[in-house]
Amino acid sequence: MQDALSLSGSDGATIIVADERRALAGLRRQTMARFLLFGFLLSALAAAAFYGLGLIQMDRMLLTAANSQVRHLANMISSEGMPGRGREWTGALGDLAFVRLEWRGRTDEIWNEGVTPEVRSLAKAALVQHSHSGHWDQDIRVGGAVYRLLAARVDDGRLPLDRFVALYRIDSDMTAWMHRQLVMIVIGVMAAVIGATSSLLPVIGRLESGVIRNATEAIVADVDILKALGSAVAKRDNDTDIHNYRVTVYAVRLGEMLRLSGKQIRGLVCGAFLHDVGKIGIPDHILLKPGRLTPDEFEIMKQHVTHGLDIVSVSRWLEPAAEVVGSHHERFDGTGYPQGLQGEQIPLSARIFAVGDVFDAVTSKRPYKEAISVAEALNILREGRGNHFDPHIIDVFLPIAEAIYRQVNDTSDCAKMILDNIIEMYFLS
Ligand SMILES: [Fe+2]
Repeated sequence: MQDALSLSGSDGATIIVADERRALAGLRRQTMARFLLFGFLLSALAAAAFYGLGLIQMDRMLLTAANSQVRHLANMISSEGMPGRGREWTGALGDLAFVRLEWRGRTDEIWNEGVTPEVRSLAKAALVQHSHSGHWDQDIRVGGAVYRLLAARVDDGRLPLDRFVALYRIDSDMTAWMHRQLVMIVIGVMAAVIGATSSLLPVIGRLESGVIRNATEAIVADVDILKALGSAVAKRDNDTDIHNYRVTVYAVRLGEMLRLSGKQIRGLVCGAFLHDVGKIGIPDHILLKPGRLTPDEFEIMKQHVTHGLDIVSVSRWLEPAAEVVGSHHERFDGTGYPQGLQGEQIPLSARIFAVGDVFDAVTSKRPYKEAISVAEALNILREGRGNHFDPHIIDVFLPIAEAIYRQVNDTSDCAKMILDNIIEMYFLS
C-alpha cells in the first residue's frame, strides 16, 4: 500500500486525504488483531479440549491397570483356591494395597506390606460408605500418593466370590510421566493452531492490500475532482488559482488561532479551495465583465453560491466544503447573501474564510484593479468589524495578517508550498 494517498497536479501540490487513509489503516490493524485473537482463542479452546480428553484417557488407563491387577488376582484364586488354605497371599497382591473377598457369608481382607494406618482407615470408611453398592470405584489421596479403591461383583460362575474389593496404588511416577506427555501434546496442538493461523495472515494481508489499493484509487479520484473543480473556476475567473491557495492559507492560520479541530481545519481547506466553484455556472458576459455589474447582473452573479452548493452536494467527499461555499458571502450584520444569515447563524468556517477572502482580494492585483497596501487592507477589515465580519475573528486576524501576507506573497510558489505543509500536517500526520 502506498504510504499516502496523493494527487500531484501541474503545480506539484500534493493533496492527502488523511481521514480515509487513517480509517483504512485502522481497518487493517483491526482485522489483523481480530484474526490473531481468533487464532489464540481457537488454540486455547483446542488445548482445553485436548487436555480434558487427555485427563479422561489417563483415568481410563489407570482404571484399566487396576482392573488388570484385579483380574490377575481373580485368575489366581480361580486356579489356586481361596486364601486361608495354606497359601501366602501378600506376595501375590502386586500393586494392590488391599483386597477384600466376600464369599458365602465369609469375608477375607488381605493388606499388602507398607500400607499406612491412614490409608487403611480411609479405605475402610469408603467400604462402609459403599457397603451396599455393586460396581464402584473411588480415589483415596494420602499425601502425594493416590489409591484407587474399586469393587466388582464376580458372577462368572468360576469363582465362589460374591464381591471383590481391591485398593490399587497408582504409580505417581507413571502418572507424572503421563501428565507430562499430555502437556506436551497440548502445547503441540496450540502451536499447530497458532502456526496455521499465522500462516494465513500474509494471505489476508495481500487480500486486504488489494481492497485498500482499490479504495485508495477511489479516494485519489475524489481528490482529482476537488483540484479540477478549483482550477476550472480559477481559469474562468482569474486565469490563476493562486488566490485559492492564498485564501486557504489565511483561513487555516486563522482557524489555528481560533483553535479549530483538525476535522474543522480539513473542512476549511476543502471549502476555501472550492469557495467560488459555482462561478462555473455564471455566464461569461457577467463573470468577466470588467465594469460594475447592473443590479440584474449582480442577482445572477449571486447565484454562484447556490450553483456551488449544487456542485459540492453531489459528492459526499465534497460535503465538508458546503459551509464555506454556501455562506462565504453572508455578512455578520445579516446583510449578506444568499440567506441573510446573521452573527453566529453563519457557520464559523464561513466567517473565518470571509476575512481571509476579502483581505486577499484587496491586497491582490487583478486585471481590473491594482492591489492596495496591507495597512489600507487592514483598515478595510477594521471598518467591516461587526458589520461585514465577526469582530472576534477580526481581532484575532489583525495582529497576524501582515506576517501571513509576507509569507504567502514572498515568491509566486510560496502559497502553494505553505499549503502543502498545511496538508501534510492536517491530512497526513
Ligand atoms: Fe464568492
